[in-house]
Amino acid sequence: MRFALLALLLPAALAAPFERRASALPYRDPSSSPTVQTDNYLGRNNGTLKNGPVVRGKAFDRIVQVWFENTNFASAASQQAFADFAKQGQLLDQYYAVTHPSEPNYMAATFGDFFGLSDDSFNYIPANITSIFDLLDEKHVSYACYQESMQSTGFQGFNNQAPDYFTPSSNTLTSYVRKHNPCAFSETFARPARAQRNRNMNDFAADVAADALPQWVFVTPNMENDAHDTGVSFGAKWLQYFLGALVNDKRFNSDRTLIMITFDENETYAVENRIFTAILGNALPRNLIGTTESMYMTHYSMLATVQANWGLQSLGRGDVNRTLANVIPWVAEKTSWTGNADVPAAKRPLLNLTGVYAGPLSNTRNTPFYAPPEQHTKGAGGREALLQPCLDASATADKGALPTPRVGANYYGSQANVGSTDTCKVQPGKGPAGPQPGPAPAGPQPGPPQGPKAPAGPQPPKGPAGPK
Ligand SMILES: *[C@@H]1O[C@H](CO)[C@@H](O)[C@H](O)[C@H]1NC(C)=O
Ligand SMILES: *[C@@H]1O[C@H](CO)[C@@H](O)[C@H](O)[C@H]1NC(C)=O
Ligand SMILES: *[C@@H]1O[C@H](CO)[C@@H](O)[C@H](O)[C@H]1NC(C)=O
Ligand SMILES: *[C@@H]1O[C@H](CO)[C@@H](O)[C@H](O)[C@H]1NC(C)=O
Ligand SMILES: *[C@@H]1O[C@H](CO)[C@@H](O)[C@H](O)[C@H]1NC(C)=O
Repeated sequence: MRFALLALLLPAALAAPFERRASALPYRDPSSSPTVQTDNYLGRNNGTLKNGPVVRGKAFDRIVQVWFENTNFASAASQQAFADFAKQGQLLDQYYAVTHPSEPNYMAATFGDFFGLSDDSFNYIPANITSIFDLLDEKHVSYACYQESMQSTGFQGFNNQAPDYFTPSSNTLTSYVRKHNPCAFSETFARPARAQRNRNMNDFAADVAADALPQWVFVTPNMENDAHDTGVSFGAKWLQYFLGALVNDKRFNSDRTLIMITFDENETYAVENRIFTAILGNALPRNLIGTTESMYMTHYSMLATVQANWGLQSLGRGDVNRTLANVIPWVAEKTSWTGNADVPAAKRPLLNLTGVYAGPLSNTRNTPFYAPPEQHTKGAGGREALLQPCLDASATADKGALPTPRVGANYYGSQANVGSTDTCKVQPGKGPAGPQPGPAPAGPQPGPPQGPKAPAGPQPPKGPAGPK
């Protein structure tokens, strides 16, 4: 069902932004333009990304997701920038996060499962557990995550500080966090070919300037600009800075680009987890501009939508769940996907639950990493699950093949251990386990503009980080 967006916007008095995190910081644009490098982004550019030929999708050739933090639907809708960009595209007004807090939501959008995680701790996931990146590699579709204030390309640390360019002062702020980075969770990102796809915002500026943006793009603003430590009105100003310039730039918003603005989760745990989500960009059919789509969707829907677009294999997890993974309806139409389900309110599962699921990342009901439960279900790409050669495919959670939950044994760890269980690595003389992404960058490009030198970030924690 579609109806005019304006009818949805609440009266100004009701829609006053919910500002739990009163912040003294005044907003400032980090750079004169998102395509101009700056020391305010912290990490230096480290070579322009090299991608293979563009792989044509049925509905779009590029998808860019921009994720903000912890905001209820109405608070986001009340902000001019969020409302304006939604009006330039389509509002998805029945879009839900899948759990709380942050990290398991970013993980779900990457793996189709959050593996029982109910906190924001340091995790890495073994290489036999597939993610969206394995599916994209199989079809040679290029990808990258761009992380504002991340200190270096390929960074594996838990977080890093950056100078406070907002005030500006000699203070530093916790700016980059691993828990918001989908390109940090799989230990396969310790491999060089993948490490270069875990990028910072100066890499982004360089990639756009060189017209080298990949086809699947994930953008995480820093902890101030994504509203986490500030509030949604702060995040709205960054959104205006970032997208205001880029929607008119064909190197970003090509004729076949789809842009999505969303949030990791709803602020209030006591209510269901509905989040403000809008899609826009030149790939969106013109007749949908200014409309609202009320199909029930969740973070798993973006996995299914991407699979449908490029005919990808599935992950065999939440991405093939017929309740939770409806494909964006106009994309379903263009890709001839007929599996979308009407999910009436009474049939919608509670998605605000946390700490109640067993799994390899649960800190109370721990299990080994399990094979995908839905290996033979065809997903929205029309194909079954991709299984890694180093996976014991019979060890699924649903077949009772798991040993008794081993409380305490888990993959929480430190930076030094990332990659240590990568049993899928290419063995000499044994042929590659799967297609690798494009060749490594030629070498560092000329540095960003001169400016004060950034401080070195703090060391990541040595052991597991507890829940917040
Ligand atoms: C450059 O990128 C590689 C990953 O491709 C990474 O290992 C290295 O640390 C990066 N260096 C800097 C200064 O960003
Ligand atoms: C989840 O939301 C429902 C209302 O939609 C509420 O009744 C329930 O208490 C919430 N659960 C939690 C754990 O907060
Ligand atoms: C959080 O989600 C619930 C359920 O979708 C929604 O009713 C509520 O309005 C959201 N929170 C707010 C205050 O927007
Ligand atoms: C789909 O997800 C819902 C909610 O988590 C769950 O209750 C249901 O069992 C899942 N369906 C399948 C086929 O796994
Ligand atoms: C996946 O790999 C990890 C690390 O090597 C191992 O502990 C786990 O049992 C494997 N899981 C499956 C289902 O193969």
